[in-house]
Amino acid sequence: MRLLIAAAVASLIRASAAASAADWRSRSIYQVFTDRFARTDGSTTYPCDVNTNIYCGGTWKGLENKLDYIKNMGFTAIWISPITAQVTEAYHGYYQTDLYNVNEKFGTADELKSLASALHSKGMYLMVDVVPNHMAFAGCPDKVDYGRFKVFNKADHFHSYCPMENMANQTEVEDCWLGNCNMTMPDIKTENQEVADEMNRWINSLVSNYSIDGLRIDSVKNVNKDFFPPWCRSAGVFCMGEVSEGLANYTYPYQRYMDSVLDYPLYYAMTRVFQQQSNMSDLVVNLAACTKNAEAGCKDSTLLGTFLENHDNPRFPYATKDLSLVKNALAFTILSDGIPIVYQGQEQHYDGGDDPGCREALWLSGYNTDAPLYKHVAYLNQIRNHISAKHASYSTYQTNVLSYTSDVIQLRKDAIRTILTNQGEQGGTYTLTTQGMQFTSGATVVDVLTCTKYTANDKGEVDVKMQGGSPSALVEEGSLTGSTMCGYT
Ligand SMILES: *[C@@H]1O[C@H](CO)[C@@H](O)[C@H](O)[C@H]1NC(C)=O
Ligand SMILES: *[C@@H]1O[C@H](CO)[C@@H](O)[C@H](O)[C@H]1NC(C)=O
Ligand SMILES: *[C@@H]1O[C@H](CO)[C@@H](O)[C@H](O)[C@H]1NC(C)=O
Ligand SMILES: *[C@@H]1O[C@H](CO)[C@@H](O)[C@H](O)[C@H]1NC(C)=O
Ligand SMILES: *[C@@H]1O[C@H](CO)[C@@H](O)[C@H](O)[C@H]1NC(C)=O
Repeated sequence: MRLLIAAAVASLIRASAAASAADWRSRSIYQVFTDRFARTDGSTTYPCDVNTNIYCGGTWKGLENKLDYIKNMGFTAIWISPITAQVTEAYHGYYQTDLYNVNEKFGTADELKSLASALHSKGMYLMVDVVPNHMAFAGCPDKVDYGRFKVFNKADHFHSYCPMENMANQTEVEDCWLGNCNMTMPDIKTENQEVADEMNRWINSLVSNYSIDGLRIDSVKNVNKDFFPPWCRSAGVFCMGEVSEGLANYTYPYQRYMDSVLDYPLYYAMTRVFQQQSNMSDLVVNLAACTKNAEAGCKDSTLLGTFLENHDNPRFPYATKDLSLVKNALAFTILSDGIPIVYQGQEQHYDGGDDPGCREALWLSGYNTDAPLYKHVAYLNQIRNHISAKHASYSTYQTNVLSYTSDVIQLRKDAIRTILTNQGEQGGTYTLTTQGMQFTSGATVVDVLTCTKYTANDKGEVDVKMQGGSPSALVEEGSLTGSTMCGYT
């Protein structure tokens, strides 16, 4: 009886702890590429050649030991690589063979549970990457040995083979197979009810066994849309899907099937504007694609995953080492509407190219907490965390474009106003009088990125010192009470 009560109480705690979309909205996510974040031995010299595509030895234990590096940058959640058992060489985790066992290269089931509880004791969430689209087999499609898979171990559990060739044909995208004779990815028949039921049981059990708070769902566009609502309900936690496509009218409608999608349309716009220094109007159009255009299908811009880099695309500094440009892009990532996601290595100004180049081992940076972008990210998270805790309206406030020219944009999201520019380090020093800020007349306004103070004039504007293309994040002094920023307490 006592045991039964204990079990009932435990399940209640679990149920009430399950993190919803609303719980995630004010979070800030650090993307960990598990094999490349930290080794159990804590080495900062262990060699890792990205081009060999083999394991470099990162583990869940190594990650647990280094959580303060992430927490001290202001992150309140991490997203880790898929945890399921894999074919022999799959350091990224996207070649799974067994849904009911963990990838032993990353550690044991108990070590993963220990990571989850270490995160929770620091008030942080665990998001796990999951792959409902496919299993993997190292060989040609006609040689697949289904008996090796768990739990979908029969050919009937999969679509019959067809190569994915025409990406404009959605049926093909959903039913055909990814991969080639080096690595085949048998495509799970998720529209089959028995398969879907099994998938629902699996995700429910996975989330509960490892106390997972949210899912990052891989290859969403390759799965039938109707699969997702029951699946995410079975998971019982926040779902963010990867729809790797820049067209707003293709990507955003997936938000009808799950809480959130990674904001690829905005990613491409940010890259054009801040990296290639295209016209700021591009950013304005893309912001409006979600907030002002219901037809695009975007349900809630404040739940989208906003990112500038990830493990699949060239890093921002691969194209330009200009520190001001990346600082502006990071300010936009963290202070615009979505849930910000920063990929490990951005804070160290890593500059790797296309996959696998962008998968450098973080330990080789020595986890330098004095790096300029480590500090920049920390300030940005700190102001966002502080304001969203203090102003209930912040998290759901949709960014307002106050004014823009081809190379400067002024934005407001509740108590935080930002001035972003893509002039770069060559931007020079000049004074910019703001437009539409609506600060309290006479108030002291602080740029929390430099601690520069201004006084709002009788129109509620300030004369901001623009310097070397750096971004500004402006708040009224009163909003800083209770923070530890710029000497306020
Ligand atoms: C799309 O692909 C499916 C599956 O390969 C095929 O049956 C169908 O004819 C294709 N449709 C078009 C319009 O090409
Ligand atoms: C398979 O792998 C080999 C060796 O790495 C490579 O040379 C070949 O191009 C790959 N084939 C395909 C179809 O990717
Ligand atoms: C969760 O744990 C239970 C009990 O140990 C086990 O039977 C089940 O297979 C586990 N599920 C997953 C997805 O690992
Ligand atoms: C989506 O937008 C693109 C570019 O604006 C357009 O070419 C395409 O026809 C649109 N697709 C749909 C399904 O509306
Ligand atoms: C930037 O875009 C705006 C709005 O489309 C346009 O008015 C302006 O001329 C453009 N600026 C440049 C330098 O092309």
